[in-house]
Amino acid sequence: MLSTKEQERRIGQLLRSMTLAEKIGQLWQLTGCKASYKKLIRKGQLGSLLNLTGSRDAHAGRIANEFQRVAVEESRLGIPLILGRDVIHGFRTILPIPLAQASSFDPSVAEEGAAVAAREARAHGIHWTFAPMVDISRDPRWGRVAEGCGEDPVLTSRMGAAMVRGFQGGRPDKPDRVGACVKHYVGYGAAEGGRDYNTTWIPEGLLRDVYLPPFHACVKAGAVTVMSAFNNLNGVPTSGNEWTLRQILKEEWGFDGFVVSDWASIQELIPHGYCADKREAALAGLRAGVDMEMLTDCYRENAESLLRSGKLKMAWIDEAVSRVLRIKMRLGLFENPYTDEGRAAEVTLSDENRAVARRAALEGCVLLKNDGLLPLAGKIRKLAVIGPLADAPVDQMGCWVMDGQEQDTVTPLAALRKVPGLDIRYAPGLASARENGTRLFGRARKVARAADAVVIFLGEEAVMSGEAHSRAFLGLPGAQQQLLREIAAAGRPLVVVVMAGRPLELGPLLEHAGALLWAWHPGTMGGPAIADLLTGKASPSGRLPMSFPSTVGQIPVYYNKMNTGRPQETLRPVGLPIGTPLDPSDFTTSYIDAEQRPLFPFGFGLTYTTFQYSGLKVTCGRDVVVRCCIRNTGRRAGTEVVQLYVRDVAASRTRPIRELKDFQRVTLKPGASAEVEFRLVRDQLAFHGVGGRRVVEPGLFKVWVGPHAEQGQEGQFTLR
Ligand code: BGC
Repeated sequence: MLSTKEQERRIGQLLRSMTLAEKIGQLWQLTGCKASYKKLIRKGQLGSLLNLTGSRDAHAGRIANEFQRVAVEESRLGIPLILGRDVIHGFRTILPIPLAQASSFDPSVAEEGAAVAAREARAHGIHWTFAPMVDISRDPRWGRVAEGCGEDPVLTSRMGAAMVRGFQGGRPDKPDRVGACVKHYVGYGAAEGGRDYNTTWIPEGLLRDVYLPPFHACVKAGAVTVMSAFNNLNGVPTSGNEWTLRQILKEEWGFDGFVVSDWASIQELIPHGYCADKREAALAGLRAGVDMEMLTDCYRENAESLLRSGKLKMAWIDEAVSRVLRIKMRLGLFENPYTDEGRAAEVTLSDENRAVARRAALEGCVLLKNDGLLPLAGKIRKLAVIGPLADAPVDQMGCWVMDGQEQDTVTPLAALRKVPGLDIRYAPGLASARENGTRLFGRARKVARAADAVVIFLGEEAVMSGEAHSRAFLGLPGAQQQLLREIAAAGRPLVVVVMAGRPLELGPLLEHAGALLWAWHPGTMGGPAIADLLTGKASPSGRLPMSFPSTVGQIPVYYNKMNTGRPQETLRPVGLPIGTPLDPSDFTTSYIDAEQRPLFPFGFGLTYTTFQYSGLKVTCGRDVVVRCCIRNTGRRAGTEVVQLYVRDVAASRTRPIRELKDFQRVTLKPGASAEVEFRLVRDQLAFHGVGGRRVVEPGLFKVWVGPHAEQGQEGQFTLR
């Protein structure tokens, strides 16, 4: 790789030789594979393509090279193209959806997964992925919660930064890495009512404390690009927002990569009502610091006349071009513009990649209920496998899968059939998760009755989450609830496994389930991972990265909320509300007709064993050191995700009732114990005060170390 000094020298040299049309060309990205693009590339008028190739192209690398050759060998200055694609949770080997990866509370899962995705994508001619998505989301109606890491800024920051490291490695110019693009900057997940693309209102303190930190963490991890979003933020759309892009991202954080718009989001400044026409949109985008325009051609059409009019500064164009060139250099594209065409077969879907996907799926599953039925090992011989998602290879991959293929996916049914000693009988009960008919119920009932136990696979199809797939109701779609009732009536021990892209409303499901395993959309290797967990070959260790609402009417429901002047949850002991729906007379913040607490809190997840917390010790010196003893009190080995929460009791801008500060996965044999130590540096206690200033305020802090956001050993310290 060129030294930074040499890179900057070459950027300067190129800038001096480029015509305006060539400069604007670097700031334009088009989609797909069209021969007509070659003419633009030859003239130096197109800097990037997305979706030029994918795994379905038998010769993806060759196609990528063919277009790259035009740029490098036939254009006047030979500036290489940067080729992007949405490699969100895997390329051919599909990892669990990001929300499931977040459930592992294990950044190494995200890092290894992203490295697999990078390896496979790069071998197919892709230099750059539009991931990770680190939008904090507190509304499961929003379809895109699947793509992110949930409701907490610390967890999302850790997972997002790990993905950046996985995609890029220490050296993003290596032939098995791709550039990352952190998205969607910023606040996109706070869309009103969970409606995709909708308006967001986020006060500066909240933006800086909750929505921005994951982006900052990814930038610090070296992410080479950032994507501006679709949403209108406090009245200024994020793709024309000078404050968030130029001021915060580029100036405050010193981000030196480039910003790409989201799909047509520059032109969308017009329907937002922010710009009157494409000319104004171009000006707004460039002024704000969106360096590359995806898909639409506002910049291309208008930059020249805007420059002539004096409204657009040449310095903005030059800066944008420099940033694009810098990242092309950082990715090694000037030195090695071509893809090794022979590599794809060797690195794609390798055993190693599949093993990574399997571990990620395993760690991403969350056990939400278990009356002792799981694990099944030794207890069950004849097992009925029921449900529309037991053998749904496409659906189990989840949303945002462009390259994963059906035939590569191992479903739970296929995996369970391979378990020695299990006699599997299968009946889907419904042809798809959205089917309303009951014609297949009869056979499913019969299969259930003839078995020792039943595992029923329910949930959402892949198309029910993801972009533009918000839901107003969060129950099981189609006739699944009815199917569940019928199967439960067969009276056999019943395990429910749910595959979904978001938290659902589970109340009606829970009462029928002896055990409930939440598998999200677990990807290519979801089947074997689930089989391992059900049979006890492995133990569940995942935790919820989002609170599960007990009813849609509670949304937004998230753990790190403010206390209000009339809190219901005076925790007594921790976790028990005082007012109840039946006694609404207590004039606290609550509903008179529903629970206020979520059904399952953030951080929750069971294992096949039990853990006891004791002996919390807090010492406050230069750092705050929190120690707690964890003991495995059950009969099986298990992994506990030990979570550290803090509350700043009184502050100049009020603080949430709890904030996750750190977590550790601890694996213990039966009877074994360990002392877990957390060290908090002062900066971890900071927040953004009135006026947006970052402050750490002295005073009393409460501390909890526990298994989830509503439980834990409590301590405190006073910061002087
Ligand atoms: C999505 C982005 C994605 C882009 C390119 C947009 O519609 O919002 O997340 O990266 O398309 O495919």
